[in-house]
Amino acid sequence: MLSEALMVSAPGKVILHGEHAVVHGKVALAVALNLRTFLRLQPHNGGKVGLNLPNIGIKQTWDVASLQRLDTSFLDSHGCSVLCILLSIKHLRGPQPSVCACVTEQGDVTVITPEQMEKLKEVAGVREDCADHTHLAVLAFLYLYLSICRKQRALPSLDIVVWSELPTGAGLGSSAAYSVCLAAALLTACEEIPNPLKDKEPVGRWTEEDLELINKWAFQGERVIHGSPSGVDNAVSTWGGALRYQQGKISSLKRPPALKILLTNTKIPRSTKTLVASVRSRLLKFPGIVAPLLTSIDAISVECERVLGEMAAAPGPEHYLVLEELIDMNQHHLNALGVGHASLDRLCQVARAHGLHSKLTGAGGGGCGITLLRPDLEGPEVEATKQELTRDGFDCWETSIGAPGVSVHSAASVDAAVRQALDGL
Ligand code: MEV
Repeated sequence: MLSEALMVSAPGKVILHGEHAVVHGKVALAVALNLRTFLRLQPHNGGKVGLNLPNIGIKQTWDVASLQRLDTSFLDSHGCSVLCILLSIKHLRGPQPSVCACVTEQGDVTVITPEQMEKLKEVAGVREDCADHTHLAVLAFLYLYLSICRKQRALPSLDIVVWSELPTGAGLGSSAAYSVCLAAALLTACEEIPNPLKDKEPVGRWTEEDLELINKWAFQGERVIHGSPSGVDNAVSTWGGALRYQQGKISSLKRPPALKILLTNTKIPRSTKTLVASVRSRLLKFPGIVAPLLTSIDAISVECERVLGEMAAAPGPEHYLVLEELIDMNQHHLNALGVGHASLDRLCQVARAHGLHSKLTGAGGGGCGITLLRPDLEGPEVEATKQELTRDGFDCWETSIGAPGVSVHSAASVDAAVRQALDGL
């Protein structure tokens, strides 16, 4: 077990195309945002485990002794132990089949079972019927702490504080960035992976192999929070940059163009889990109608990837016209899937009045939307759009995309504002 403090960060994400369709095996294109979640892990000898999440008002402490006395065999029964995951990664690289029964051929891990979830709720003191995001964040922490640290001779005493620049539950991957930070910090603290921070360097990044392990555990955390996510959010938060994601297969887009995007938070709260379930039930109810929509969204993602590839060589106005058309078509499809919202319609309407094109990003039902900002746009036009959206009660900000994935930082290299937020000042 490491003895020094660790500071880790991971980015949020924007899905350009493919949300919801990706849950059904289609392609998604996602990019890392320049908004990050920061986690500080402080090991100590106090016999306690503390979790402090100032953004959502969570501050909880557990006695290590009581966690140690827990019968954690439930983590083995149907789920995947750290050993299983390590073995699966090792064996996926070689020609041998996976040796772990709970790992599928793609190296995927099984969903946390309802029994495991109930047991975790008991440990966390969460009411049976309670499924709000604050409690789910605690459950994800306990799941990752107990699963990753139980290989140690004794469960470690530590304090974790997580603070995020990302709005929660807005479709920007805040829960994935949280799970990625937790997985990276706990695996490093338990010396399952090395700390990549070199002496006197401000930032360190893990090797590809270590990122794979971080991503697998983060996916487990996401499953506790979201039920059956596709895995795209944790993948983009782990690797950063711009990714194509399909059924767990991840490839980085080479030299993605520096697209400028206006991000709008409608501030309408919604649940990814519920929206994903609603698309699934619409697909079951109207397979002949909904399946072609998902196929068409897949084709939009593929076409967008092709255009972005062309733009890497020589971006031109014609490319932006295609990107705008793709945005419009996808937004209509997402509305037909039932994940639109009046606030998102309003965003599209305001954008269109200024000659711009928007779509929802993430699960929809409120949350955030993206608006493509062409390079030929004049500053005052963008300002006027932002002002109108702000008047409607939305938050909006211009973003740059393609930020680095999960990283470890020296304490001195982190912004004073982030340090203060983590200190609760
Ligand atoms: C959420 O950011 C994206 C969805 O496609 C769900 C998922 O991929 O797990 C709606």
